[in-house]
Amino acid sequence: MRVATLATEDDFDGWRDAARNLAAAGVPADQVVWQVGERPIDLFGDEALLESDAPAFHVPRAFVDLARSVVLHADPQRFSLLYAALLRILAEPRLIDDRADPHLRRLDEMAKAVRRDVHKMRAFLRFREIADDGGESYVAWFEPEHHIVRENARFFVNRFTTMRWSILTLELSLHWDGATLAEGPGATKADAPEGDPIEAVWKTYYASIFNPARLKTGAMLKEMPRKYWKNMPETALIGELVAGAQAREVAMIDKARAAPGGNSDAAWAALRDEAMGCTRCDLFRHASQTVFGEGPVDARMMFVGEQPGDLEDLAGRPFVGPAGQVFDRAIADAGIDRTGVYVTNAVKHFKFEPRGKRRIHAKPDAGEVTACRWWIEQERAIIRPDVTVALGATAARSLLGKVVTVGRERGRPITLDGGGTAWITVHPSYLLRIPEKDRAEEEYARFVDDLKAAAAMLG
Ligand code: URA
Repeated sequence: MRVATLATEDDFDGWRDAARNLAAAGVPADQVVWQVGERPIDLFGDEALLESDAPAFHVPRAFVDLARSVVLHADPQRFSLLYAALLRILAEPRLIDDRADPHLRRLDEMAKAVRRDVHKMRAFLRFREIADDGGESYVAWFEPEHHIVRENARFFVNRFTTMRWSILTLELSLHWDGATLAEGPGATKADAPEGDPIEAVWKTYYASIFNPARLKTGAMLKEMPRKYWKNMPETALIGELVAGAQAREVAMIDKARAAPGGNSDAAWAALRDEAMGCTRCDLFRHASQTVFGEGPVDARMMFVGEQPGDLEDLAGRPFVGPAGQVFDRAIADAGIDRTGVYVTNAVKHFKFEPRGKRRIHAKPDAGEVTACRWWIEQERAIIRPDVTVALGATAARSLLGKVVTVGRERGRPITLDGGGTAWITVHPSYLLRIPEKDRAEEEYARFVDDLKAAAAMLG
């Protein structure tokens, strides 16, 4: 027997190094005991093995990504399940693609549960304001299901850089003083301030992450079990938010339900739920949430933008910020009803660079567009739009799978693999950047003409 000791519950690097050494030495999975904590009690002897420098070997990238998530799961068996899977994959690398394999399916489910927990913490953690010697600061109590607190630390630092805050959990605490992130021991709920502060800023934050699209399946409410509610005085807002959102959504839902193939609704909801935990590229690390497409699943027309902006990232809905306003005005001028079309983005997470308090849009790169194509292809497969309008070069690249010069391809129908027609035009934010009024008006009119021409294809 070997004992592999990891420094912390989420010690991916420790697991990887130990697993590499054990595998290189040919140690079978049932001969390893995994433990977390201090140096091992020398129960089974020979630990030196774990410290040897075994030669590196190639492991499929997908398995490394899977293992990074699974290591954060609360199941005490996770290290050993992963090590057993590693040995199998080293013997048969193609196993990683076998989604029917029960062992890998179990690991996949664990990774998904972890990603959901990461998302819940981002969405539902609730700070309370306190005053201390250093002035104002914020404290939040949170009860994650998995070992995801460190994983989420960078997200909260980026999101609330200018505040001083602490996040307390049973396992560990995080403390940000505006410059440095420090880690402390675990805490109890009694260590967090009680009370009912309901600061307007948090109400607004909460309202902005409330995503009406998720009401379709009740997913949002399901996702927010009582244990989160009790830490969130703003949940008093839920009734209000639900009523407002339902009123806005009712027409859309009815339309989708009445359409032939009501099942598409469920398929779309499942896809959207899965996308909420997307980690296909690194953009999920800093974005607030996945911004999935929205609109009736039987829409005949689909619009694809580039990626969510700052406001879309907070609201969880596409095209609600300044570019969205231009988009709304233009499709209305083209005689198109937004509630009847499906609107989505080529990339589903906001990519930005922090500049002081602001988050400045950064263009997604080819790898990010490619990683995200999977979602848009699934969206298109479910919606099956007759016409898909690509707004700008990134959307066109995602749709056609190659680099596209908008000026060259604009304004003519292009037949898409798998059915339907694409129509390429400029991105609404391009119109916002034109300084001369006359030119801006001219370009706007041209944009509206493109939209009219695309809509005319529907007959
Ligand atoms: N720009 C986009 O391309 N999509 C959005 O959702 C918002 C701005």
